Amino acid sequence: MIQNIDQKSKQATSFHKSPLLEPGSSTRDERGGVISDLQSNSTTQWEANSIYYEFSVAVAPKLPKIPCITFDRELHQQETTAIIPLDLSPQLQSTAPATSPVISAYFLRICPQESLKTNSLATAQLFYVIRGRGKTESEYGTMEWSKGDLFTLPSCGEVIHSSSEDTAIYWVTDAALVNYLGVRPTKPRFQPCLYPGDRIFSELKQIAQEPGASKRNRIGVLFGNKATQLTCSLTHTLWALMVYLPGGTEQKPHRHNSVALDLVIDAPESAYTLVGKSLDAEGKIVNGERIYWKSGSVFVTPPGLWHSHHNDSDRDAFILPIQDAAFQSYMRTLDQRWS
Ligand SMILES: [Fe+2]
Repeated sequence: MIQNIDQKSKQATSFHKSPLLEPGSSTRDERGGVISDLQSNSTTQWEANSIYYEFSVAVAPKLPKIPCITFDRELHQQETTAIIPLDLSPQLQSTAPATSPVISAYFLRICPQESLKTNSLATAQLFYVIRGRGKTESEYGTMEWSKGDLFTLPSCGEVIHSSSEDTAIYWVTDAALVNYLGVRPTKPRFQPCLYPGDRIFSELKQIAQEPGASKRNRIGVLFGNKATQLTCSLTHTLWALMVYLPGGTEQKPHRHNSVALDLVIDAPESAYTLVGKSLDAEGKIVNGERIYWKSGSVFVTPPGLWHSHHNDSDRDAFILPIQDAAFQSYMRTLDQRWS
């Protein structure tokens, strides 16, 4: 054993003196990475993009943080028909519109008797009808919808949405991930699906009336598709949940590695989500930031932060968190925790 240690010691010393470890003439970037220098005679064109990092400075790169931010409902109350990106790409250093590293979300505002085309390089698309009535035509056929309906489309070409009355739709896709990967969808991963608003609320009501429902962490209905039963999720990447928060109640803190983009369906404006980095000994969030709920608005809950929902009023509240949790579940990295 002693002999082995000595051998290792000699080896380390000889490495230190080895001509193989003589520093080169290449430059270092701001993270200490050695960037290949094409001016050097020994560097070929195939090395032009290589960088060599010292482990300790690059093992945990500091990426721009995902902000805790609200996209106000006024964005979809403008006068003209338009696609309104909920875009955080400058903050995220994304090369395409992105609301999180995986998700690109938008409001679709369609004036009465008008149409709007969408065309996204996404493998999953969710549409929630905030208000209005109309139809959506795609290569899969024509789907009619009205306020409170949720529907999905897999990858497809141009889609035309037509309204018969003043309409706003929350459109959520995984285009940010597709853009990051630099790929194009080659096949639908699931079949389009409609979740009518009245069915959503009848399922929610049934769940709320089950014995012991009030003792669960939350009262909610998760949306699924026959193609994605492995992850029990809306699509293979997107996850959606309709949450019922009765007046005078709160949901205890939890956290997860997915990013949540919550659409406030209907709530008193005194209801809020408390977000913070840590819990105290009683399992309550320390120095939390309050995000007040405003019906028709969307707020972002960054990954890994503790958050709890509160409704101190005498009026019920409903909220629709949409997350990349299906993708995280498939990756086995969701890491859902409860206080
Ligand atoms: Fe959450």
